[in-house]
Amino acid sequence: MNSCQLDGRKIVVTAGGTREPIDAVRYIGNRSSGKMGFALAQEAHTRGADVILISTMQPPASVVVQQLELVSRVAEMRESVLRHYDTAAVLIMAAAVSDFRVKDPSKSKIKKGAGVLTLQLVENEDFLLELDDRAVKIGFAAETESLLENARAKLLRKGLSMICANDVSRSDAGFEVDTNQVSLIYKSGEIEHLPLMTKIETASAILDRVSKVLE
Ligand code: CTP
Repeated sequence: MNSCQLDGRKIVVTAGGTREPIDAVRYIGNRSSGKMGFALAQEAHTRGADVILISTMQPPASVVVQQLELVSRVAEMRESVLRHYDTAAVLIMAAAVSDFRVKDPSKSKIKKGAGVLTLQLVENEDFLLELDDRAVKIGFAAETESLLENARAKLLRKGLSMICANDVSRSDAGFEVDTNQVSLIYKSGEIEHLPLMTKIETASAILDRVSKVLE
């Protein structure tokens, strides 16, 4: 359905969880497996889009894209997104981006022994807020409470066309698993509850809606 809308269009997809270094061997991460972003990249490629996948982890060999950029820290993901955004028709921010980074990560491994270790964290830039409206921007909201309310607030704050709201407190949706149940919230206020499906089926449903927005 509507797949021709994506044909030859540049679609930027981010996937996985960012890693903010604490020292030479440790990092602050999150439970994102990258599976939802990989499914979106794979589906968009199947529909003929030129897919730029910006990921914190190597995707499985089955995920074929135009260009893969591997990143780790939020600053690297931001730089990569900003570099591709100007010529993109669609940006799908499926990555779980760390809100904080360690202020002064240690170059060497921090040794235990002091009993207590205090890390000073600073907030990362929210780079969706930095982007103008030239492309269709799609976000994800991973929430454990007040799902629709929180997701709608993010949609408006970040100027998105649509946000995919995920209840990550469920064991069959969100992080790590192969299935997902998302609710799509649009700028207009309309809400669409997708059924529990595989992440590939969920990606397909999301791209159907993206195609409609592009029409
Ligand atoms: N996002 C982003 N840059 C950030 C943080 C998040 O572009 N520094 C994007 C995410 O990829 C996602 C959307 O914004 O598509 C919502 O991310 P989320 O972490 O749920 O929202 P936050 O704005 O960080 O709010 P909070 O963590 O307080 O719930």
